[in-house]
Order: sequence, then structure tokens, then C-alpha cells
Amino acid sequence: MSKDISQVLYSAEELAQRVEALGKEISEYYKKEHINSLLVVSVLRGSVIFFSDLIRHIDDLDLEFDFITISSYGSSAETCGKADILNDVAEKVAGRHVLIVEDIIDTGITMAAVVERFLAKGVKSLKLCTLLDKPVRRKVQNLKIDFCGFEVPDQFIVGYGLDYAGRYRQLPYIGVLEPSVYKK
Ligand code: PRP
Repeated sequence: MSKDISQVLYSAEELAQRVEALGKEISEYYKKEHINSLLVVSVLRGSVIFFSDLIRHIDDLDLEFDFITISSYGSSAETCGKADILNDVAEKVAGRHVLIVEDIIDTGITMAAVVERFLAKGVKSLKLCTLLDKPVRRKVQNLKIDFCGFEVPDQFIVGYGLDYAGRYRQLPYIGVLEPSVYKK
């Protein structure tokens, strides 16, 4: 374990199990709705590891994927309160069933900006999937999360895609960052 991590919140094994279950839940939902064509959009950069694992557990769907890059935190530990779209999706999304995949929903500002953008583009349906939800920090109301891995406490967590100042994304587990690292 990295010396900067005070506690492992979810081990690699726990993450793998939960991500597989989420993939099955998503597959079953679309099957039940008789939807067989889906565009899955990863919100970069944090969701990329979760996304890569998740889509390999979504079966029986004609699936395409794309990416949108959003940044709200810069290099600091606190959100700056607005989400900038740095790179938009390449695919046409009007009239398509779209599933957005995030690593974490915190204030909800990023996801709200993504939802607004996709609804304005005229998607046929829009569903939200996040690995982690931190509801205690929410600033945006009425954000409906359709698929969620874990509800997490208000701790500074990194790993499995989540960063602090660009670091720790490659950790195979999700852990709590030592306060001395970000309070320096
Ligand atoms: C992180 C995370 C989410 C967002 C959640 O992204 O990946 O996209 O913050 O926070 P919010 O609910 O308060 O908006 P960040 O802006 O740090 O960029 P990153 O994906 O490159 O890590």
C-alpha cells in the first residue's frame, strides 16, 4: 500500500465484484426496456478505469463508446464550482440511448453540466452511472443516479481513477489519502 494512503476503502477484489454486478444490472435494465443499442460515455479523466472494467460486463447490447472531458477541480482539492467541457464527444448523440459513466458524484456540478449538455443534444434516453456517490457533499438538487456502485463518506479518496493533483489514479484500490499530503 502507498505510504500516502491511511486506509483502503475498497480493495481491488471488492471493486471487481461490485463492477461486475453493476454491469449485469445495466444489461438487465436495458434488456427489460427492449433497448438493444447503447452509447456509453466515459467522463474523463477520472472514470476511465472504472469505465474500461464496466463495459466488459455489459452483455447482449449493441454497444458503442465515447468520451467527454470535463474538469472542475484543476489541481486543487476543492471544486471551483463550475464544470468546463474540455473535449466533447465525437459521436452524434441525438436520438440515441446514452449511458453516462462517472467515477464519483460529489457536489453534482460536473454531472449536472453533462446532463444539461446531452439533453440539449436531443438524446432518446439518458441514464447515469457512477461508481461512487458522496451525497453529503451535494450542491445540485434533483440529480437522479440510475446505477451506483457505493455510497461513500466525506473523506478524501483516491485510486482506481480518482486523483489528487493528478496523482494516485493508477492505484488498483480506492483508499483514503493521508491529510498530511493535501494539507502541506
Ligand atoms: C472529478 C470526478 C468527477 C467530478 C465530481 O473530476 O472525476 O468528474 O470531479 O465532482 P462534482 O460532483 O463535485 O462535480 P475532476 O474535475 O477532478 O477531473 P478528473 O476527472 O480529470 O479527475
